[in-house]
Amino acid sequence: MKTSELRQKYLQFFESKGHQIVRSSSLVPHNDPTLLFTNAGMNQFKDVFLGFDKRSYTRATTAQKCVRAGGKHNDLENVGYTARHHTFFEMLGNFSFGDYFKQQAIHYAWEFLTSPEWLNLPKEKLLVTVYAEDDEAYNIWHKEIGLPENKIVRIGDNKGAKYASDNFWQMGDTGPCGPCTEIFYDHGEHIWGGIPGSPEEDGDRWIEIWNNVFMQFNRDEQGNMNPLPKPSVDTGMGLERMAAVMQGVHSNYEIDLFQNLLKAVARETGVEFSMDVPSLKVIADHIRSCSFLIADGVLPSNEGRGYVLRRIIRRAVRHGYKLGQKQAFFYKLVPDLVKEMGDAYPELREKQTQIEEALKAEETRFAQTLETGMVLLENALSGSLKRLNGEIIFKLYDTYGFPYDLTADICREREVEMDEDGFNKAMDEQRARARAAQNFKANTQLDYNGQDTQFKGYSERKVNATVIALYKDSEAVTELHEGETGAIVLDQTPFYAESGGQVGDVGYILAGENRFEVRDTQKIKAAVFGQFGVQVSGSLKVGDSVLAEIDNDIRDANMRNHSATHLMHKALREVLGNHVEQKGSLVTAESTRFDISHNQAITPEEIAEVERRVNTAILANVAVDANIMSMEDAQKTGAMMLFGEKYGDEVRVLQMGEFSTELCGGTHVARTGDIGLFKIISESGIAAGVRRLEVITGLNALRWAQNQETLLKNIISEVKAQTEKDVLSKIQANANQTKALEKELAKAKAELAVHAGAKLLDNAKDLGTVSLVVAQIDAEASALRDIVTDLTGKSDKAVVLLAAVNDGKVSLCAGVSKPLTAKVKAGDLVKFAAEQVGGKGGGRPDLAQAGGTDAAKLPETLASVENWVNNLL
Ligand code: ALA
Repeated sequence: MKTSELRQKYLQFFESKGHQIVRSSSLVPHNDPTLLFTNAGMNQFKDVFLGFDKRSYTRATTAQKCVRAGGKHNDLENVGYTARHHTFFEMLGNFSFGDYFKQQAIHYAWEFLTSPEWLNLPKEKLLVTVYAEDDEAYNIWHKEIGLPENKIVRIGDNKGAKYASDNFWQMGDTGPCGPCTEIFYDHGEHIWGGIPGSPEEDGDRWIEIWNNVFMQFNRDEQGNMNPLPKPSVDTGMGLERMAAVMQGVHSNYEIDLFQNLLKAVARETGVEFSMDVPSLKVIADHIRSCSFLIADGVLPSNEGRGYVLRRIIRRAVRHGYKLGQKQAFFYKLVPDLVKEMGDAYPELREKQTQIEEALKAEETRFAQTLETGMVLLENALSGSLKRLNGEIIFKLYDTYGFPYDLTADICREREVEMDEDGFNKAMDEQRARARAAQNFKANTQLDYNGQDTQFKGYSERKVNATVIALYKDSEAVTELHEGETGAIVLDQTPFYAESGGQVGDVGYILAGENRFEVRDTQKIKAAVFGQFGVQVSGSLKVGDSVLAEIDNDIRDANMRNHSATHLMHKALREVLGNHVEQKGSLVTAESTRFDISHNQAITPEEIAEVERRVNTAILANVAVDANIMSMEDAQKTGAMMLFGEKYGDEVRVLQMGEFSTELCGGTHVARTGDIGLFKIISESGIAAGVRRLEVITGLNALRWAQNQETLLKNIISEVKAQTEKDVLSKIQANANQTKALEKELAKAKAELAVHAGAKLLDNAKDLGTVSLVVAQIDAEASALRDIVTDLTGKSDKAVVLLAAVNDGKVSLCAGVSKPLTAKVKAGDLVKFAAEQVGGKGGGRPDLAQAGGTDAAKLPETLASVENWVNNLL
C-alpha cells in the first residue's frame, strides 16, 4: 500500500464513522504563543478541548503536518541515525470533542488496524500499553477486544514525577493532557529490542504506531491539573511508521516516499545511492521540514522559528558537504518533493519557486563561511582532542554561522565532548554587550487588576473620562504631581495603543489647568490602555474627571500611512505575486515601514507600478468601512489575514472598496482620497528573502517632493547646467574629465617615483660585491615594483628593499640584480622583512613582494636588512 493510499484510507475510515475531515493546519500555530511549531494533530483543536472554541462538529479526523525540531518535542538530533525519527512527519488523527471516549476510541483503532476491510494487520503482531492507573482502558483491551494479559503493559510515572510518563501525553508544559494507550507493532525477532517497559524497550523491534490520548485535564502554569469541561479523545498515528508496516519494511526511510527522495539526494550530491549512508537520510528528512516551513511562511533568520529553520538547512548543507557536495544542491530537491507530496499539500506546489529561492539564498550565504569554518574546526579537532573549547564553538557560531547543534553533530561523529559551559559563558558575554547597547524603552509591565479600557478612538478624538489608575514611573500612586513622569489608565479613551504596527497616539489628558502630556500609548494588558507621559502642570488624582484629547495632526498622519499600507499590501501582491506576505510593519506619523517576503530586489519598474496602483485607488476616493463580524464571515469576504496574528472569535474587517479587504484593528482614514499622494521612497533587503519598503503620504509626500525639487535646483546651479535636461550630461562630462585627470596624475606620480628611485641608487650603501638600497618611499604600492625593476636593471650588483605605507598598510618590494641571485634571493629578503611587520610574502629570486600591517615596526625592519645581507656575503 502506497503512503498516499494509507493517508486516504485513514481519513475515509473515520469519515465513515461520522468524523469531519479537516485540513491540516499550518506548521506555524496561529493562535498559540506556547508552541514553536505544530507538533501534533490536536494543536489546531487545543481551544476546542479547553472549551474556549466550538465547532460545528464533535468528531474530526486529519492528516496533520508536524515539525518536531525545537521545543518540548524535539527529534532533530536523532534524525538520520534511527529508523523512525524525523524533523517533519505527518500525523493521522481522529478526535472527539466531548463525544465518544475511551471505549469507542479503542474499538475504532482496533477495527481500522485489524479488520480485513481496512489494514488487516495480524492481531498477534500488536501489543498495547496503558497508563498504570487506567483500569478502564485495561479492561476494554482485555475484556472487550480480547487481548491476552501478556499483550497489555501497564506503564506508570516512569519519568520522575507524577504524570510524567510515556503513557500520559501532554502537548507542552501547559495545556490539554491526559492518560493514553499506545499501540505497538512487532517488526519481528530478527530485530533487536524488547517490549515497552522492558530494559530493551529502546530497540527497534516494537515500534509505537498509534497513540490514543484520553484528554481529561488542562495543566496550568503552576502545574495544577484542572479537569476539562468534557472528556475528549486525541489520537495520533505516524503516517511514515505505519506505511513502513504496510510496506513490510522496517525503516521509515525504506517506504516509497522516502526511497524517491533518497535517490534524488544521491543524484544531487553525486554519491551512489545506499541505505547505509546516514547523511542521505538526514538530507531527505530535512528537505521536507525546510520546504514545508517555508511554504507556511517561515524564513531563515536569527531568532525563533526562523532560527530553527536556519539550523535545519545548515545541518542539511553540512551533510551535503560531508558527502563532497560543495555547491548549492539542497534547493534542487524541491521539485522531487513536490512530486511526492504536492498533491496532498497543494501549498508546496504553489510556493515551489519561493521555497527554492529561499533555500538557495540560505545555502549560498552559508557556503561562504562553511568551508572556512570547517577548516577552523578540523584544525581544532586534529590530534586526539577529547573536548572542544567553548570559545571555538562560540566563534564558529558567531563568525561562521554554525549553530551550536551543528558543531555538536560533528563532535558526536568524532566522539569529542563539547565545552558547553565555555560556550554559554561566551554567549552571555555577548548578550550583555548587546543589552548595554540597547535603548531604554517605556516599561509597560505595570501592576494593574482593574477594569478594561473602552476604546472610543475609532470615532472620537476627545472623550470625557475618569482616571482609574496612576503610575509614577512604574509604581502605582494615587496622585501624580507636576514634573513627574508616569502612566494613566482611563475608563475610556480616544488614544490608540500601539498594535498591528501602528504606533500609539499622543496628546493631552486635562482636568482644568491640570495637564498631562501623553507621549505614547501602549497596552499594559490585552484590553487595558496605558497613556504614558509627563504631568506638565498641576496634578491628577485617581477618580478625577478628565478630558482626554489626542493630537489630531499626528493621528491624521498615522491614519494616512496605515491606510496606505493596506492599499500597498494588495498592490504588491498584484505586482510581485501572491507569495508576498507581510513580515512586519511600523506605521508612524512620518512614514510607514513595511517588510515583505520576496526574494529579490524590487525593480524600479515594479515600484512605479505599485505607486501607480495605490494612487489610482486613492483617486477613486472610495469609503473605508470597518465591520465587526465572526471569523467565519470574515473568511467569506476573502479578507487578507496575516500570518501568526491572533484573531479572536470576532474580528474587524477593514474594507476599501474593491481595493483592499484586510483584518485590522487600526485607525484609518474615512475615504481613500484622504491619504493624498503616496510615494515609496526606499526599498532594501533586510534579511534573506525579506525586503523593506519605506513609504510616505499626504503632506510628508509633498514635503519630500519639494525637497527633491530644491535638491535638483542646487545640483543644476552647482554643475552650471542651464536646465534640468542637460544636468545629467554635465555630470557625466565632469566624471569623465575627473577620470582622465586621475589617469594622468597616476602616470605622472609613477614617473616621479621612478625618477626618485634612480636617485636611490646613487645613495646606495656599498657592501663590496653589493650595492644595498633600503628605503621607505612615498609611492603607491603598485609603483614599487616598477621602481625596483628599474633599479636592479640599471646595476648588476643591486640588492633593493623598498617600502611604502598607504592607509596604515605596509607594502614591501625586494629586488636583486640577476647576477647576484645565487647569493641573495629577493624572496627570502622580502619574507625576512615582512615577518617583522606582521605579514607574509615571497616570490622570485630577483623580484618579490609582500605586505604587512604593523607600520610602526618598519624603521627597525629596514635597519635590520644590512646585517641580514652581510651574513649572506
Ligand atoms: N497528541 C498525541 C501524540 O502526539 C496523539 O502522540
